Amino acid sequence: MVFPLVVMLLHLHSGFGGLPFYNGFYYDRVMNDKGDGNGNGEAPFNGVKLVVETSPDTVFAHRGANVTLPCHYHFAPQLDAPHKIRVKWSKLRQDSTKDRDVLAAAGPRQRSFGEFRGRAQLQQASPHEVSLVLDDLRLQDAGKYRCEVIDGLEDESGIVDLELQGLVFPYQPRRGRYVLNFHEAKKTCEEQDAVMASFDQLFKSWMEGLDWCNAGWLIDGTVQYPITLPREPCGGKDMAPGIRNYGERHKNLHHFDVFCFSSALKGTVYYLARHEKFTLEKAKQACQDDRAEIAKVGQLYSAWKFLGLDRCDAGWLADGSVRYPIISPRPNCGPPEPGIRSFGFPKVGKFGVYCYKMS
Ligand SMILES: *[C@@H]1O[C@H](CO)[C@@H](O)[C@H](O)[C@H]1NC(C)=O
Repeated sequence: MVFPLVVMLLHLHSGFGGLPFYNGFYYDRVMNDKGDGNGNGEAPFNGVKLVVETSPDTVFAHRGANVTLPCHYHFAPQLDAPHKIRVKWSKLRQDSTKDRDVLAAAGPRQRSFGEFRGRAQLQQASPHEVSLVLDDLRLQDAGKYRCEVIDGLEDESGIVDLELQGLVFPYQPRRGRYVLNFHEAKKTCEEQDAVMASFDQLFKSWMEGLDWCNAGWLIDGTVQYPITLPREPCGGKDMAPGIRNYGERHKNLHHFDVFCFSSALKGTVYYLARHEKFTLEKAKQACQDDRAEIAKVGQLYSAWKFLGLDRCDAGWLADGSVRYPIISPRPNCGPPEPGIRSFGFPKVGKFGVYCYKMS
């Protein structure tokens, strides 16, 4: 397969830092006998501007944390009379799905929706604050949120960007290279306790040194791969380092690898200390006997990145791959850079095992 390659050179995603954080506009509400004024010809409600302000800075958090997405509004000029407004928070689309409702509030009534039910509340510490508090962050929560304030017929909004601290890892299933369509790729990441990575997440990992010469799906439906050391088979030796981009591919018909994203681990991963080595089936059983379960690939990466797991012993993981995590490179423990070492998916042989416990 040959696709045109486009190199993205340190191309900071547009709309990342450049979003206006309010877009207030003026409106005239003509008061008349039918309107909500008292019809006595009092000063018309002219030239009042509703302004919504959100944080222009990205909010950073990690899986499991509680986070506040700041949002405030005011009227300019200020209104003396208290004014009823409604608030709506939504999450902007990341793949081809629709914007998702997060929370709606009118007066003291609040309602959260879908996967945000029970985890989203409005914070109103000051009279004009309508910030969103999200509890127990999930990997899927990363992205852009719209804070919308509705005053009668007018509505104004601002955007808050929520990023999770985490890591991106490339994933190739047992069946081999380039066998996943978009939908299978998405599911594959979820099976590893991860989500499909966004471009921003891949970009950040590339800045931190990720180099991978196999193209993988991203959540926006594009296929890309990060190169820090340009070489012939990976877009060309003379190309600058960058994210090589195949562009948007057909979600059902085209097959690639995938980039998955994970954040902090809830729980722990450990190498099961036993003298014996196991087949995959026996390894699963050994973790269960230890009141744990065999770890997933995303969990091993999280433990390596966030809990400092460093172990020079190859162990089974739930998908049937054998890997081990190295933070301090040393002789006989793989290449001179830190990383997760992989033996692929051995068909025979006995190894140790990495187990995962919720707490
Ligand atoms: C998050 O908030 C909930 C209550 O809303 C609290 O029970 C929990 O301990 C908080 N979690 C963290 C990590 O602070």
